[in-house]
Amino acid sequence: MHTHYYISLILGIFACSAVPLSLYYLSNEQSTIQAEQATVYHFEKVSGAIQPIPRQIEIDTRWVSLGKALFITPLLSKNNTISCSSCHLVDFGGDDGFPVSTGIDNAEGERNSPTVLNSSFNFRQFWDGRASSLSDQISGPVHNPVEMGSSWAEIIKKLSADIYFSRAFLSLDPHGVTRENIVKAITTYEESLITPDAPIDRYLLGDNTALTEQQQRGLHHFINHGCTTCHQGINIGGNMYQKLGRVNTIPDILIKDLGKYQITKKEQDRNVFKVPSLRNVADTSPYFHNGAVDNLPQAVRIMASAQLGRELPEQEVEDIVALLHAFSSKVIEVQ
Ligand code: HEC
Ligand code: HEC
Repeated sequence: MHTHYYISLILGIFACSAVPLSLYYLSNEQSTIQAEQATVYHFEKVSGAIQPIPRQIEIDTRWVSLGKALFITPLLSKNNTISCSSCHLVDFGGDDGFPVSTGIDNAEGERNSPTVLNSSFNFRQFWDGRASSLSDQISGPVHNPVEMGSSWAEIIKKLSADIYFSRAFLSLDPHGVTRENIVKAITTYEESLITPDAPIDRYLLGDNTALTEQQQRGLHHFINHGCTTCHQGINIGGNMYQKLGRVNTIPDILIKDLGKYQITKKEQDRNVFKVPSLRNVADTSPYFHNGAVDNLPQAVRIMASAQLGRELPEQEVEDIVALLHAFSSKVIEVQ
């Protein structure tokens, strides 16, 4: 890895970016993982099921910029009308706000657009987890006839003919516009789309005032009722598969899509989905794989009943909803 290219982003309380990274790690328990590309996240570990989003990452900002340009260009779609950002509005929760997404020629898909924010922390991608990584995922929308309806050959042709893109690619890699470089740029951009310093993170890192009293009660219920058996880790979700309707039957509005079963045809995969991240969930209504539920209290009641076999008192539902609002934060700005 060409370490001299990697710029450290000092976030939150670390205001002075010239100090070498290692200085911050003298006392805290730390761990780092390497994302698919050469991006490095510096995690701060705490005890308990939910872990904070790292406030510090090393990422190649030149590839981030190129990836951002690719994410917002309609050139990736067959008829130059749809971009990744048509369905993933990075400044508005990272989804599109509709129950299901609409692609080229007004074609309607069958699933709700999940947020792209913090997606690099998911163990797999898509509601049914069919893509093993962000780089695997990209071919999905590019080829999907109800999303971008294009192909790599068409895209490479269009980007090579574009003066901005052809120069930008060549300045980063002598091979210029290739599928590998397109994928690398978009995934590096996605790796930069993290939302540290949400109230829950500040609370976990020791700021007891970061959550209101109601949110603290919500956290207590969220843990005690067992939401964290599934929604846990850095993304408060995104690290396992689970059956929707694990304990009780699920409402009819959610029953049609069989999730992982549609890929594997195995009985044990019926209605199994990737547990979604609850990060920024207050900004990503409507909810569930087909966007059938448009408000958080209802989503929480369905979860408590279907996944845990509990009917929660209304006060507890409200407390948990208040907590879910504490999972939101803004995307860091990478220049
Ligand atoms: C027409 C709308 C649409 C477009 C365009 C689109 N997406 Fe998506 N995206 C979706 C939907 C819907 C899903 C969920 C599909 C599923 O799970 O079967 C999804 C899933 C994802 C996921 C997985 C997130 C997770 O938590 O599982 C990522 C990452 C993603 N898209 C990135 C992209 C990128 C990058 C592009 C551009 C190359 C793109 N999307 C273009 C609608 C769209
Ligand atoms: C047994 C595992 C499990 C438990 C326990 C669980 N969930 Fe879920 N949760 C899931 C799965 C799987 C989904 C995705 C279901 C779908 O969309 O088909 C989900 C979806 C959600 C969603 C919708 C997210 C979105 O972006 O659409 C919310 C909100 C949610 N859960 C909150 C909770 C709360 C609050 C609790 C505790 C009362 C809880 N969950 C308990 C597995 C679980």
